[in-house]
Amino acid sequence: MKILLLGKGGQVGWELQRSLSVLGQVTALDFDSKDHCGDFSNPQGVAETVRALRPDVIVNAAAHTAVDKAESEPELARLLNATTPGLVAEEAAKLGAWMIHYSTDYVFDGSGEQAWSEADATGPLSVYGSTKLEGEALIRASGAKHLILRTSWVYAARGGNFAKTMLRLAQERDRLTVINDQFGAPTGADLLADVTAHAIRHLQHKPEDAGLYHCVAGGTTTWCEYAKFVISEAQKIKPELQIKATEVAPVPTSAFPTPAQRPHNSRLDTSRLQSTFGLTLPHWEHGVQRMLTEIL
Ligand SMILES: NC(=O)c1ccc[n+]([C@@H]2O[C@H](COP(=O)([O-])OP(=O)(O)OC[C@H]3O[C@@H](n4cnc5c(N)ncnc54)[C@H](OP(=O)(O)O)[C@@H]3O)[C@@H](O)[C@H]2O)c1
Repeated sequence: MKILLLGKGGQVGWELQRSLSVLGQVTALDFDSKDHCGDFSNPQGVAETVRALRPDVIVNAAAHTAVDKAESEPELARLLNATTPGLVAEEAAKLGAWMIHYSTDYVFDGSGEQAWSEADATGPLSVYGSTKLEGEALIRASGAKHLILRTSWVYAARGGNFAKTMLRLAQERDRLTVINDQFGAPTGADLLADVTAHAIRHLQHKPEDAGLYHCVAGGTTTWCEYAKFVISEAQKIKPELQIKATEVAPVPTSAFPTPAQRPHNSRLDTSRLQSTFGLTLPHWEHGVQRMLTEIL
């Protein structure tokens, strides 16, 4: 199987380099790759790459993920999150290749307390959310065989992330204030990459299971509870850590005004993914513990 991985340097892209390697021959590109164009600000260039490489499967982990920045550069966000993925999917359709893509909880308006299912109405609150939603629609409309995994609160051992920021701040400050009115599940890039590889293998035998799925770790938390968990686990793993913060205080989203509005309810119902692909999604705490053990 020939696989083209786009966005190889991101959190999910990095883990996909590992998980896809057992499925076949992987060509992995980033925006500045030399041999083939992997730059999503150049849609025709990426389309040409697909035509030249003729992959069986395209996995797209490239995206404009700077949620606040996207508010002031909507054209670039749309190009990276919608136009180019849509064009890549059109090329995939011509080749009969699979298009694998990631989307987000930000396609929802965050109302209510129920976990969102794939059938629920969308209502993005931000440029990031609406461009990701448009990307989903263009991929569906392309006619390509596709798998779209909507996920949330992605972290990885590699690169910066919320857990690392909380650990640093907890060593610098006596008191932290963290948002406690957004609900979701921290999801490891490694988990997403493993699920992706499993799903690709499954779809080779059952192409009728193509489509849109929610993919997040089990359980639900808030950023504040997540921060508390990170700090207490880090202290267990590395008792010599000098944690100054004796208090992690909950605050509402309004305490940290940002250009982009974030959904309060980011719970995603993953039952469709688990039953279709025969998967069990572990509780979010397992992955975060593992990541902390790795980085400390
Ligand atoms: N991160 C989250 O919390 C989250 C939540 C829900 C869904 N998702 C979705 O999950 C997928 C993977 O996200 P992630 O967390 O791995 O994000 P990430 O770490 O920001 O990775 C995105 C990658 O795209 C690259 N990129 C930026 N501009 C590009 C361009 N012009 N051409 C090609 N590549 C470009 C980035 O490069 P640079 O780093 O050099 O800019 C980065 O390597 C995305 O579809 C995202 O929307 C993420």
